[in-house]
Amino acid sequence: MSERFYSDARLYDRLFPAREPAVDFYRAEADRQGGSVLELGCGTGHKLIPVASDGHPCVGLELSPDMLAEAQRKAVERGVELDWVQGDMREFDLGRTFDLVIIAANSLLHLHETSDLVDCFRSVRRHLAPGARLVFDVFNPSVQMLALADGVRRRREALSFVDPDRGVVHVDVAETYDAAAQVTRGRWYFSTESQADVVVVPLEIRSIFPQELPLLLSLGGLRLVERFGDWSGGPFTGDSAVQLCVCESD
Ligand SMILES: C[S@@+](CC[C@H](N)C(=O)[O-])C[C@H]1O[C@@H](n2cnc3c(N)ncnc32)[C@H](O)[C@@H]1O
Repeated sequence: MSERFYSDARLYDRLFPAREPAVDFYRAEADRQGGSVLELGCGTGHKLIPVASDGHPCVGLELSPDMLAEAQRKAVERGVELDWVQGDMREFDLGRTFDLVIIAANSLLHLHETSDLVDCFRSVRRHLAPGARLVFDVFNPSVQMLALADGVRRRREALSFVDPDRGVVHVDVAETYDAAAQVTRGRWYFSTESQADVVVVPLEIRSIFPQELPLLLSLGGLRLVERFGDWSGGPFTGDSAVQLCVCESD
């Protein structure tokens, strides 16, 4: 349901530019682990291109052809070599293993069914070299925030950005929370000063609650060995905005 959100990679990059603390976190994880890196749902390469520029052999796997093409274009522009694969993180076989697998910026939350998450973790496990790790980040669901998802369209001023072709772009979002599915179903409206709703796209994101996360991993043959609550490696608590998870094979 969220494919259309990722069909305009340049719009995505303006809406969500790379954030240094997150990029630095993944660079440090890659350096600590050493060796090769696979990113699932690599998008336009916010994390993977810097990691590859540090000298790690990298592969990026991504569902959206448009995001992948933009990642490829940026890597060539920056003179960074890495491999790109179009694929689905639920089921893939690259015929080799990696020292580190990463899934950054909530990409995992595009898998809504428990079976999809478990399939993904099983696929990851098959691609882990001895001693390798899976590191990923997902948001920590806040019941207060989920309760605010009342379906009303509201402007998100903080997300406004400037597009060289369209000028200032405003972003409105209307969201509802499906508590049975644990999925927030949103509609994102992009408007310029001269034209309302130039782009309207759905975005659906699952919540993974802290206590279910290690259970999902264990069903996929993985073990949560560490969970941080911020990009500088602080401890995870109920108030943390993110769950930064470090996992190994069971
Ligand atoms: C929020 S973006 C994050 C991109 C990138 N990881 C980053 O840190 O900027 C989520 C990405 O996951 C991709 N994605 C969603 N479902 C996927 C799937 N089943 N397999 C592979 N990629 C997927 C989307 O196309 C999108 O590029």
